[in-house]
Amino acid sequence: MALSGQTARRKGLSRREFITIGWWAAAGLVLTEISAGVIYSLWPKDKPKAKVEAFVAGTLDQFKLGEPVLFKKQRLYLSRVPEGVIAFSTKCTHLGCFVPWRADDPSEDEPGKFNTGKGRFNCPCHGSIYTRYGVRVAGPAPRPLDWYNVKLDGSKVVVTIGKPIQRQGVTPDQIVPV
Ligand code: FES
Repeated sequence: MALSGQTARRKGLSRREFITIGWWAAAGLVLTEISAGVIYSLWPKDKPKAKVEAFVAGTLDQFKLGEPVLFKKQRLYLSRVPEGVIAFSTKCTHLGCFVPWRADDPSEDEPGKFNTGKGRFNCPCHGSIYTRYGVRVAGPAPRPLDWYNVKLDGSKVVVTIGKPIQRQGVTPDQIVPV
């Protein structure tokens, strides 16, 4: 016996019902993806920790008074001063430019502290100037160059590298006496 048209339509989905269900399924999928993205972006993540390690910069006799030595890969200077040895970052505390040592520029250190009247750190970006201790004397930099812990292991100079330490001036703990 043949089914009436209405009965046949009830047996399966109409075209309109099929499209409506498909549309809702697609919308649900998109909403789920958006929600997952939002939740993921808000979820607290562990920040990668700076790797702390001991770096042997050399032996004491390699570092001459008043002549800072650059360690490019470690991005630090080691500076021999009358009180001992100090290590600090090459990164300007203004906007982070590399700060080169300028041996021929006029010194900004205390007069008579070093034999030569020359030598200072000059940031090329906005003109901040630093002494042999990494202390800012001019320009927009807000503080001295960040420092690293240094210690002596016999005659070896060992720097603890990782995240440099911010400072507002020079304190005895930054300098290892020699
Ligand atoms: S980045 Fe060094 S003075 Fe601006």
